[in-house]
Amino acid sequence: MRTQIGIVGAGPAGLMLGRLLRMQGIESIIIENRSRSYIENRIRAGLIEHWAADLLTEVGAGARMQREGLLHWGINIGINGDLRRIDFRRLVGKRVTIYGQQEVVKDLVAQRLADGDPLLFEVTDVTVHDLTDSRPKIRFRHDGVAQEIDCDFIAGCDGFHGVCRPSIPQGVLATFERDYPFGWLGILSESPPPEHELIYSYTDRGFALYTMRSMTLARLYLQCDHDEAIENWSDARIWDELHRRLGGARELKEGKMLQKGITPMRSFVVEPMQYGRLYLAGDSAHIVPPTGAKGMNLAFADVVYLSRAFDAFYKRRDDTLLRDYSAKCLRRVWKAQRFSWWMTQIMHRFPNESAFDHRRQLADLDYLTSSESAARSLAEQYVGLPLD
Ligand code: PHB
Repeated sequence: MRTQIGIVGAGPAGLMLGRLLRMQGIESIIIENRSRSYIENRIRAGLIEHWAADLLTEVGAGARMQREGLLHWGINIGINGDLRRIDFRRLVGKRVTIYGQQEVVKDLVAQRLADGDPLLFEVTDVTVHDLTDSRPKIRFRHDGVAQEIDCDFIAGCDGFHGVCRPSIPQGVLATFERDYPFGWLGILSESPPPEHELIYSYTDRGFALYTMRSMTLARLYLQCDHDEAIENWSDARIWDELHRRLGGARELKEGKMLQKGITPMRSFVVEPMQYGRLYLAGDSAHIVPPTGAKGMNLAFADVVYLSRAFDAFYKRRDDTLLRDYSAKCLRRVWKAQRFSWWMTQIMHRFPNESAFDHRRQLADLDYLTSSESAARSLAEQYVGLPLD
């Protein structure tokens, strides 16, 4: 097989890149090691920044999001039961859209198949080769047959556990990371929202987040130990803890638990996001803790920059944007890393924190929710910094 851009991974990064390239008249082949139903049902966060929702609409994949997504013009911060709202509309004139990441994936997959562009699921034994040559290659097996794609460039959109990043020789990448001494236990519950906007709740017992997927489906998270086994959390224990951490602020209705799982918390960045003709985008290059819900949004920003760079290369034989790709992305990535880390540290109880740290954290939350300047700074970052 022969293409211009070989894309490894059909998550939000790979699928959006494929669509942006098609709009520029650039060919791509996307390969994915999971099945279509797996990627379309994998539960992730569900919060889309203002510009990213506009992007989905501009690329023609936003119709269902516009019908089913919920527009949120603010969030609530709970401080031991005292609920304070941050008003995005008044502070920055922007909103976020609540719409599950797997729904975005479904919409982009449907669009790609309708376009008739190649998207191969359940490929195995994926490897990437000749990354510093002018014709890099992707090898894999599909339906039992060994295949090779001869590309101009490869986009590594295959996530944190993918094969692209580890194919870069030792010593090229610098890694920056931080682990957090807790995780998030998340459930999906058939129950109505206690509040029409998100509640980020700080309590002395630990953090909890109330979010939603629709007006009848609640998504709830609890800070738990980082090595917590899900078996230790019966439904009754989960509800009891949710009532304690969220119930002070609003009455929480219980519902049928459709799904429960534990999300690890990690901050991770590699620099540069490129090696030869392999360009990394999304989770293959960086992971944020879920507190700011920035993962998919960052992936979209990466591939907007990458598609612009490919466009300049093919239309004008100008490789300036390709050379600047990593630096351009990393400026945004580090701001999102800083924001996600800050949201995480302000909201969670840390195992070895001192009484001083605890008081400082409460003062931080009080400042955030009582100073217009501080609230505006949060709002500006939460709805998403504009793409430059
Ligand atoms: C979610 O809806 O799953 C969600 C929303 C906001 C977050 C994290 C997760 O900060």
